[in-house]
Amino acid sequence: MSALPGSAEGTAVTGLDSSPVQPAPADLPPLTEQTRLEAREIMARYPQPRSALLPMLHLVQSVQGYVSPEGVALCAEELGLTKAEVGAVATFYTMYKRRPTGRHLVSVCTNTLCNVLGGQRIMDALSADLGVHHDETAADGSVTLEHAECLAACDYAPVVTVDYEFYDQQDVESARELVAALRRGEKPHPTRGAPLTDFRGVSRQLAGFSQYADEVEAAAAVDAPWQAGPTLIGVHLAEERGESAPPMRGPGAQPADAGEPRETVRPSGRTGQSPGEEAADARVAAADSPAEKAGAAGSHPDAPEPAGRRLPDGATGTDTPAGSEPGTSGQGPGKA
Ligand code: FES
Repeated sequence: MSALPGSAEGTAVTGLDSSPVQPAPADLPPLTEQTRLEAREIMARYPQPRSALLPMLHLVQSVQGYVSPEGVALCAEELGLTKAEVGAVATFYTMYKRRPTGRHLVSVCTNTLCNVLGGQRIMDALSADLGVHHDETAADGSVTLEHAECLAACDYAPVVTVDYEFYDQQDVESARELVAALRRGEKPHPTRGAPLTDFRGVSRQLAGFSQYADEVEAAAAVDAPWQAGPTLIGVHLAEERGESAPPMRGPGAQPADAGEPRETVRPSGRTGQSPGEEAADARVAAADSPAEKAGAAGSHPDAPEPAGRRLPDGATGTDTPAGSEPGTSGQGPGKA
């Protein structure tokens, strides 16, 4: 069955919006000779020019705010592809927009972890404030809103990105304030990474053109102070407990005893210990590496309770502080 973009079958098969690329609005800035020259500059980076299609589509978005029919035609002409081939790529990836975008693209993660911590409530609140739904642009042209699948920042859930820059541990109020600031023309600094530009600016970066004069300026902008707290909690716990991962073996390397059957240690019941304790002792004795020994010791019935995450005085560690809305859980620290 055909699943071509825009086909009824495609919509039925995928359940997704497969609407075709939207015609150009009257006030769209044209693609210029400079755009064409920059497209050729991108093509020259690759042994096979058609490999340049993805950054070329970002280049088109950096000028016009979406992949317009004119942009599809330019890419097809330069690469010797058909418009259908370019359109098939442009409509496959969600980062290529089929309708003109606002000045900023706000993406709200509504995937599993963000959702249980309030992602959908954030999406609903922003949708109401802006008067738009998924993949629609506010009437003032300031913001295009979309829901997003996992943004690979689950340890900072719920996450919102603006022009692909991260705003971590949001809640309904902080996300509403963020979007209100964007509509006032402000650019609140992301929680980490590079300073905010706008959708066309970040599209130009994705096309491979830096917004910074040189590498020193780029490093100074991107290397902002950032504490990777939630990401490193597991590492710090492992350090406290003396745990470490087993050493990595090189590709194809076999353990020294590969192929030889391991001796099975069965509890004898002769030591006065329970069979479970005997088996646990045997596992500790048979462990090859410090990491395996630590793991076996940690699961021994006589092992002390792990220290666990340090909590503030008086905290039980069993509850997340409730948010202000009925039925909400806490959603990370409040914003200053
Ligand atoms: S579920 Fe939202 S970042 Fe992974």
